[in-house]
Amino acid sequence: MGPQTANRSDGSSLVSQPRVRTVVVLAAGEGKRMKSALPKVLHPLLGRTLVGHVLAAAAPLAPDHTLVVVGHGADQVTGHLAEVAPDANAVLQAEQRGTGHAVRIALDAAPDRAGTVIVINGDAPLLRPETVAALVEAHETAGAAATVLAAEVPDPTGLGRIVRDEVGRLEQIVEERDATPAQRAIREINAGIYAFDAARLRDTLGKLSTDNDQGEEYLTDVFGLFAATGEPVVVHVAADATETLGCNDRVELAALRQLLRDRVNTGWMRAGVTLLDPATTWIDVTVTLDRDAVVDQNTQLRGATSVGTGAVVGPDVTLIDTSVGAGATVLRSHAVSAVIGDRASVGPYAYLRPDARLAEQAKVGTFVEVKNSEVGAGAKVPHLSYVGDATIGARANIGAATIFVNYDGVAKHRTTVGEAAFVGCDTTLIAPVEVGAGAYVAAGSAIDSDVPPGALGVARGRQRNIEGWVARRRAGTRSAEAAERAQAAAAERALSGADGASQGEAIHAAADAGGVGPAKGDTATE
Ligand code: UD1
Ligand code: CA
Repeated sequence: MGPQTANRSDGSSLVSQPRVRTVVVLAAGEGKRMKSALPKVLHPLLGRTLVGHVLAAAAPLAPDHTLVVVGHGADQVTGHLAEVAPDANAVLQAEQRGTGHAVRIALDAAPDRAGTVIVINGDAPLLRPETVAALVEAHETAGAAATVLAAEVPDPTGLGRIVRDEVGRLEQIVEERDATPAQRAIREINAGIYAFDAARLRDTLGKLSTDNDQGEEYLTDVFGLFAATGEPVVVHVAADATETLGCNDRVELAALRQLLRDRVNTGWMRAGVTLLDPATTWIDVTVTLDRDAVVDQNTQLRGATSVGTGAVVGPDVTLIDTSVGAGATVLRSHAVSAVIGDRASVGPYAYLRPDARLAEQAKVGTFVEVKNSEVGAGAKVPHLSYVGDATIGARANIGAATIFVNYDGVAKHRTTVGEAAFVGCDTTLIAPVEVGAGAYVAAGSAIDSDVPPGALGVARGRQRNIEGWVARRRAGTRSAEAAERAQAAAAERALSGADGASQGEAIHAAADAGGVGPAKGDTATE
């Protein structure tokens, strides 16, 4: 926060003390009930980890200092912070002696810091930035010593209860295991998000006892101590109680995931995106969609994915860190770190791997895998192909079952196919190799030398027919019988002088003359 200035009537300005804000995220706990090798706060939830969500909710406060208390899996959590919140500092709490102890250790790492301290449990991922901001605003406006976010919930089991006096002022926060039966009946709970006046918090943290069922220093006891000495404490009630939900096991994690999915999906529908089946559509909070995008059922959009206006994605699509251009279609496919151009078409059943880049109106069709390759504007790879480490020019056509042979067992090599080139079906392009602009490759070729622009490359064995082989070697089979019937019919036609050379014989004649295809249907597929 910059200094706050107020203009005075004489035109000079009065610079007031800047409001220093320190955010402390508590993330040292093990999360035993998750039963996981992964620290609880690192479990993922629609595009961020639990602690990532908490940090994102606090980020708009523009805190001067963000401290994350780490303990269990400290190295893993610290490594994650370096990625997602490089400005945050990890503070090690070697032994987890309670939430009060955790905050005490954090503040020891930021001595002499005045202003507001915002403390957030690391496992409250549904918290909205607006709610954190409103809590801090209420706290600072009231000049309170401490403010707690509370919520009225149908089932308060396991949570700390807000105990108020007869006029409704907060008296104390009591953990369930330390509560009397009457206190347990209270349904107003502590959400685990607080704002404190730094100086008064620091004083009081030193006075916490461990005289409770868990033998821990409870941060929540600060409220009772303040209330008892007449320091102003505020209860800020959350407008939406679901925001305050924590996560203690994987059943709760799944429930949070559904709630967040619904929140995200509702937001996109209100912003002009069509979701045909919101219940089976999972969109990470990091994804962006333009108006009039359509997402069909069973679709996951993850990470840094973006979908352009008018694009249709799904059903049955997973896109990770992939951008989809305006008007493109992606059907029953999986893409990772790919770029799909405007009006391009993908699938059904395509697999786009990292750095697959489809230019506008490119087509990657059924059972096609593309990796680290460019497919040029309007180019087509319609069926059953592998495209690896290639550059395919605009409007080129790659026939069915073409394999870009990019790997020699040691190194990867590139293939270039020129603009409007035409590669026949069942071709292997053995890299490094180049097919020139406008060149043709005959079906069934194994191409390991460059094909010049406009040339026809042919690299396949010449066919020979061994007449009468079936009659000799497969006598008595249904094939032999069928052949016999066909030969008899042909002989009869020849006798009556009905037709001349068959179409097949005409093609052979062309091949003998050096043409080798591409007769219609011989080399490629549409
Ligand atoms: C805490 C509150 C409870 C509130 C609930 C909301 C206390 C004493 N109780 O209970 O009133 O209703 O959150 O979810 O604060 N942590 C540390 N170091 C520690 C202990 C905990 O960093 O020594 C971290 C945990 O990793 C977790 C957070 O603090 O992220 C809360 O700790 P947890 O043990 O889950 O507290 P609750 O029993 O849920
Ligand atoms: Ca908890």
